[in-house]
Amino acid sequence: MTSVSDKNRVLIFDTTLRDGEQSPGATMSHNEKLEIASLLDEMGVDIIEAGFPIASQGDFDAVSEIAKNSKNSVICGLARASFGDIDRCMEAVKHAAQPRIHTFIGTSPLHRDITALTMDEMADKIHETVTHARNLCDNVQWSPMDAIRTEHDYLCRTVEIAIKAGATTINIPDTVGYTIPRESSDIIKMLLERVPGADDIIFATHCHNDLGMATANSLAAVEAGARQIECTINGLGERAGNTALEEVVMALKVRNDIMPYNTKIDTTKIMNISRRVSQVSGFVVQPNKAIVGKNAFAHESGIHQDGMLKNAETFEIMRPADVGLSGTSLPLGKHSGRAALRAKLEELGYELGDNQLKDVFVRFKELADRKKEVLDDDVVALMQDTGSES
Ligand code: KIV
Ligand code: ZN
Repeated sequence: MTSVSDKNRVLIFDTTLRDGEQSPGATMSHNEKLEIASLLDEMGVDIIEAGFPIASQGDFDAVSEIAKNSKNSVICGLARASFGDIDRCMEAVKHAAQPRIHTFIGTSPLHRDITALTMDEMADKIHETVTHARNLCDNVQWSPMDAIRTEHDYLCRTVEIAIKAGATTINIPDTVGYTIPRESSDIIKMLLERVPGADDIIFATHCHNDLGMATANSLAAVEAGARQIECTINGLGERAGNTALEEVVMALKVRNDIMPYNTKIDTTKIMNISRRVSQVSGFVVQPNKAIVGKNAFAHESGIHQDGMLKNAETFEIMRPADVGLSGTSLPLGKHSGRAALRAKLEELGYELGDNQLKDVFVRFKELADRKKEVLDDDVVALMQDTGSES
């Protein structure tokens, strides 16, 4: 594995409890939020965005409690560009050993229209609010919402104002999942080149998945110099979701040969937290979801099963144990071959000669044509029909 230096360290900022919870129907209870925050803390997430304290008393209480209990992670709360929001946010995160205020405003023409602010008025507001946040807290993140659709000159100007006012992290959100990897990378490069003071702060990337490119866009931003990825467990989030934590973390681990960036996530905790987030949010993980889907480490076809039984690297680019799974699964179905059936029979305690296996295989294929998946009980029933005992 390539060795990595600190300048290649990528911070993981998890926003499952804020942007993730903004998915319609994903509301979590107070205790569920505390549990997820403690799992995130244990797995090595650098920054937990615990909620939006001004949004409701419930959000405020959850952020405060998470802040009190956090052991290692920075605890961050979200605030709009208003003193009231920022004060409320600080009230909630102040209990953390390492608090962060994250304040934002929509900078694109569409958002400037909605707020009815001119470019200059918005620039003043950014200066005032970031300065106010920085007077309350040493760790301030600023986001130009809809950065990707903001004019480049204005984006550079606002980022410069925020840095001068004391922001320590500048997050570049692709709020509507509109960008592509080349553009995601070009924008970070441009900011690093054009904005005075850009070398002294951390750039973050925050991608939504409307075009299915959130992971690719986040990685492209990292390659251009971003050192914080904002993401959620299972990619939970508004509309098509946010960048999935498990995807970016495993991509950086598996392709460390060509992306030599490291995180401090304990990847063996991924499956457990993925299941818990799915349970508490009520959002079922699709079977073919990368890394955490039920089929992510399952192989049904004969050729694949045969390969897997001989050498797992034939069809798996990471080990199930790396994400906290006990092993690969070789479900039996109509595409399965003799090697997998033999392996299953042996697992169930049946030792068959070649001729016997040939007969059972014919009957197994007849059954598999009628059933989507042939379960262990089906195999036992098949063997009982042939008069065999394990
Ligand atoms: O997507 C977005 O722009 C956000 C901001 C609040 C950072 O979630
Ligand atoms: Zn977002």
